[in-house]
Amino acid sequence: MTTSGKTVSFKELGFSNTRDMFAKAMKGGYAVPAYNFNNMEQLQAIITACVRSRSPVILQVSKGAREYANATLLRYMGLGAIQMMNELGNPVPVALHLDHGDSFELAQSCIDSGFSSVMIDGSALPYEENIALTKKVVDYAHPRDVTVEGELGVLAGIEEHVSSEKSHYTDPRDVEDFVKRTGVDSLAISIGTSHGAFKFKVKPGESVPPLRFDILEEVERRIPGFPIVLHGASSVLTPYIEMINKYGGRMEGAVGVPEEQLRRAAKSAVCKINIDSDGRLVMTAIIRKVFAEKPGEFDPRKYLGPAREELVKMYISKNETVLGSAGKA
Ligand code: G3H
Ligand code: 13P
Ligand code: ZN
Repeated sequence: MTTSGKTVSFKELGFSNTRDMFAKAMKGGYAVPAYNFNNMEQLQAIITACVRSRSPVILQVSKGAREYANATLLRYMGLGAIQMMNELGNPVPVALHLDHGDSFELAQSCIDSGFSSVMIDGSALPYEENIALTKKVVDYAHPRDVTVEGELGVLAGIEEHVSSEKSHYTDPRDVEDFVKRTGVDSLAISIGTSHGAFKFKVKPGESVPPLRFDILEEVERRIPGFPIVLHGASSVLTPYIEMINKYGGRMEGAVGVPEEQLRRAAKSAVCKINIDSDGRLVMTAIIRKVFAEKPGEFDPRKYLGPAREELVKMYISKNETVLGSAGKA
């Protein structure tokens, strides 16, 4: 629902749902990037990077992002990004996606205001309740051609609205039943990734535990050709952690999912890879550096601008070397 009380379809706004994106990604052996945004600089960087590297992209909006930036403003920012891209020429497919929707009403509000894709995250609910909630969202979304992501299994990690101390891997025995009974278009699974910048407890020099590719393979065997989603897939890149620590931050022990493992996942049925923390870390690192080197700087454009430039580089590198989505738009 827009502020005027009218509902609007994503098609009128120029967004794409994820159906075609995932079909191509499955066939092509790559994953579509799903990058979160909360502000203008992040959004500009995502769009610029994906246009330059010719990658389809899923713009993710969390419940926390809607509260931080205002739901109406965020939606118009997404729309503005589409128009900017069209004016520049050579547009790429863009989905506007609700990340970790936690209620039917939230999903409905996003669908009515022009989102092309929604996640309903019932993963913390008992199995039957997860199915009932997810199916209710699918029944509302599909007549409007909006695609729906569900989740089975629980990721550890803490974000503003997403938190769990312990992870529970997805039980592959549930996936067929879940997909069949809910009608979802894609499924997020838990194979060892987690949200945030402190994904594993490892001592210096120790390597992080590998993702559970055995679970992923069993899921693929049970629902062949079905699009799988990986949440919590930031790699927590060392140069940015070092920069943060060098310029006054304290992020010792921050560690993410190695990029080689994500590359391997992207070649499988994993069609969507969610990355938020890596973008947050890049912004923080660059802003800290500018503040440390130019203590008299007080024009936000002088620190948000360089942060945006570095973000563009990081997203292009993800598309080219991790997800394999570059050149696929
Ligand atoms: O998976 C969660 C996303 O990183 C969004 O985080 O709820 O703090 O906006 P947020
Ligand atoms: P990260 O915290 O690893 O970036 O995960 C983001 C995510 O899963 C968004 O839904
Ligand atoms: Zn997530």
